[in-house]
Amino acid sequence: MSNNNSSSSTGFSHEKVETNNFLMIVLILLVIAIGGLVEIVPLFFQKSTTEAVKGVEPYTATQLVGRDVYIREGCYNCHSQMIRPFRAETLRYGHYSVAGEFVYDHPFQWGSKRTGPDLHRVGGKYSDEWHRIHLNNPRDVVPESNMPAYPWLEKSVVDPASVAPRMKALRTVGVPYTDEQITAAAAEVKGKTEMDALIAYLQVMGRALK
Ligand code: HEC
Repeated sequence: MSNNNSSSSTGFSHEKVETNNFLMIVLILLVIAIGGLVEIVPLFFQKSTTEAVKGVEPYTATQLVGRDVYIREGCYNCHSQMIRPFRAETLRYGHYSVAGEFVYDHPFQWGSKRTGPDLHRVGGKYSDEWHRIHLNNPRDVVPESNMPAYPWLEKSVVDPASVAPRMKALRTVGVPYTDEQITAAAAEVKGKTEMDALIAYLQVMGRALK
């Protein structure tokens, strides 16, 4: 573009934008912000993303503790929980994941790192006993596995008093726990190990949609 072609009738010069770093950065950010809002904001108001799919229930006290163990142990570093809507994925794992299955997940465990397989539909795939052996030492059931062993989970007993506060915290972000459920939580997990809790969580994963 030549210098004298500065569309002076509107007072706006494209050259000014192209030669001014600051203006360019501000305008780029503005465009990205608008584009982002247009994509993201509607998701907060769509039923398909804000309402639970039929059959999805808030985690029981035991499952909830198991989910926290999953997060603490960093299982998400190797396992995603989101089946993409592609043939190769659905043939291997089952129905692709839908947003309404995750409305009670705070935070989501979707991930994209797959050193191991996706776990979103692992619920019911194996027996509790299989998971117990696998978590104690994956090589005992899958000889070529490079998944770490988690033998301490079997020895670590869940603190019953720690569960009600977690449920109350989740209630403040919209998970519909009743007072009765919160009161009953401590009794439900009493005497259970972190291994029991983690397996309970794994076994409920992705069960609502077939
Ligand atoms: C370093 C990466 C890594 C980490 C961390 C890891 N896994 Fe794995 N996981 C794997 C690999 C690889 C496999 C496939 C081989 C096997 O079955 O052991 C696997 C398999 C599995 C399977 C069987 C899935 C199937 O469909 O056959 C389950 C269940 C599982 N992992 C749960 C967990 C849990 C729970 C944790 C956290 C306590 C965890 N993993 C942490 C790598 C990992």
